[in-house]
Amino acid sequence: MLLFIRLIFVWILEALKKLVPNCFRAKKDVSNDIVLITGGGSGFGRLLALRFAEHGSTVIIWDINEHGLNETKSEIDRKFGTKCFAYLCDVSNRVDVYSKAESVKKDVGNVTILINNAGILQVDNFLSLKDENVERLFKVNILSHFWTCKAFLPSMLNSNSGHIVSIASIGGIVGAPKFSDYCATKAAAISLMESLYSELYFAGKSNINLTTICPVFMRTAMAKTVNSDFVIEPDFAADQTMDAILRNENFVTIPRWQYLSCMLKPILPPKVVVMFMNLLNAQNAFMNYHSSFN
Ligand SMILES: NC(=O)c1ccc[n+]([C@@H]2O[C@H](COP(=O)([O-])OP(=O)(O)OC[C@H]3O[C@@H](n4cnc5c(N)ncnc54)[C@H](O)[C@@H]3O)[C@@H](O)[C@H]2O)c1
Ligand SMILES: *[C@@H]1O[C@H](CO)[C@@H](O)[C@H](O)[C@H]1NC(C)=O
Ligand SMILES: *[C@@H]1O[C@H](CO)[C@@H](O)[C@H](O)[C@H]1NC(C)=O
Ligand SMILES: *[C@@H]1O[C@H](CO)[C@@H](O)[C@H](O)[C@H]1NC(C)=O
Repeated sequence: MLLFIRLIFVWILEALKKLVPNCFRAKKDVSNDIVLITGGGSGFGRLLALRFAEHGSTVIIWDINEHGLNETKSEIDRKFGTKCFAYLCDVSNRVDVYSKAESVKKDVGNVTILINNAGILQVDNFLSLKDENVERLFKVNILSHFWTCKAFLPSMLNSNSGHIVSIASIGGIVGAPKFSDYCATKAAAISLMESLYSELYFAGKSNINLTTICPVFMRTAMAKTVNSDFVIEPDFAADQTMDAILRNENFVTIPRWQYLSCMLKPILPPKVVVMFMNLLNAQNAFMNYHSSFN
């Protein structure tokens, strides 16, 4: 009974905290942090890398695109003169992840903010998905999170501090036509973060913060031809993401009103969800899409 009252009390307190406008909540200082961003060679990862550099953090970027890595690094060097370290790393390959993680620890130090951002996409009807592509998608979009967390969590546990960020997607909340494998990996990413949260809590490591980000379509390379009203600017999404990280928020949809999807989905009949998607042109949004595998 006492526990029950305590639960209600914490719940009300946390709910009230959510109501306080963001601008009143303190942002943490990340100028002494070592931030590793996977997929930092382009798109959203690059935007986050630039923002952390602007905040004075040491930035490490991993990517398979060497040219993209060079571009991100030289832009950071030019604009902020901050330390940026770029590594070619294929996050789908755990041997590569573990070996580059060792290099990072030697060259730079213990990573204090890990951002699992690298991701790929294919858009196709379920039966047309190529088996090898499905496997690769799972390796890049979700299995890689296991290898990076295994590599960088130990030093966070050791100091009971640090932050892990997962760039998931609203597709991880609501599945969509032609996105079956992608949405499945994003749902897995969300679930991994939830499980880690409770595991860290029970281990008494509640000072390690976790943030899961669920954006709608962003106009990056991944979705550059998307034809929907339902697209946000990557810069806006990057600003919102920085805000969520600096304020230690646990779960954020971008735009925020997408919380509605999370709340309504379990109670709406699936037919209504599909009709809503139709309204947003989800079926045809990716008509001219060329997948990560072409
Ligand atoms: N663009 C969108 O509409 C959208 C919406 C929601 C979520 N997201 C997520 O945001 C994240 C960033 O995507 P983006 O939009 O910037 O796409 P992007 O294609 O512009 O960038 C992805 C980056 O990941 C890198 N990458 C791919 N495979 C890799 C591998 N095996 N190892 C290391 N790096 C690899 C790519 O080279 C690229 O630089 C992804 O996880 C994506 O799923 C994107
Ligand atoms: C990236 O930069 C490195 C070091 O400056 C250089 O050796 C390499 O050729 C560059 N690669 C590409 C693809 O631009
Ligand atoms: C890095 O983390 C390890 C534990 O994983 C710890 O022994 C070491 O002292 C840390 N290094 C620094 C510079 O904090
Ligand atoms: C996250 O950070 C805050 C400080 O901003 C801290 O109070 C909290 O315990 C941290 N951890 C989790 C898991 O929320």
